[in-house]
Amino acid sequence: MAESISVSGITKEEKYLSLLPQIKALVEGERDTIANIANIVAALKFAMGHFWVGVYFVKNNPDNNKQELVLGPFQGPVACTRIGFGKGVCGKAWEIKSTIVVDDVELFPGHIACSSLSKSEIVVPVLNRNGDVMLVLDVDSEKTGNFNETDKLYLEEIAAIIQKCL
Ligand code: SME
Repeated sequence: MAESISVSGITKEEKYLSLLPQIKALVEGERDTIANIANIVAALKFAMGHFWVGVYFVKNNPDNNKQELVLGPFQGPVACTRIGFGKGVCGKAWEIKSTIVVDDVELFPGHIACSSLSKSEIVVPVLNRNGDVMLVLDVDSEKTGNFNETDKLYLEEIAAIIQKCL
């Protein structure tokens, strides 16, 4: 496993291109899902300088026997622990099984504000082979309009790496 992450490049694309092989190397040879996801979100947070990076797992809540998103490994300020199906950006990405890019969180109906400092976000669902969402990858920024098609492309590649770690 790589011991440190060093990202070169000026543009966002160059940074992702430099980061991707390092993320692959980071999880190579390690089978533990949580350990691998924990390292992936840390690499992403510190390489790209995002405000918050983390995952929410789809889990059964034994109290009501309903599936919910439950907070998993993350880097950044403390965050909401549970999110319902269809709720917020994360629950919506789970529902529609597609990436959602939000330029301005205040304009997203039902957005869940874990931190008032978060202004834009992107949520990428990770599906299993049967097409069920297993978790979502959530990346937040303190700047509005911080995420675009480049983030979508490379974060979906990172989601594919996470999928292989499950
Ligand atoms: N904003 C998210 C909630 C998770 S936090 O941003 C970490 C949402 O609306 O689903």
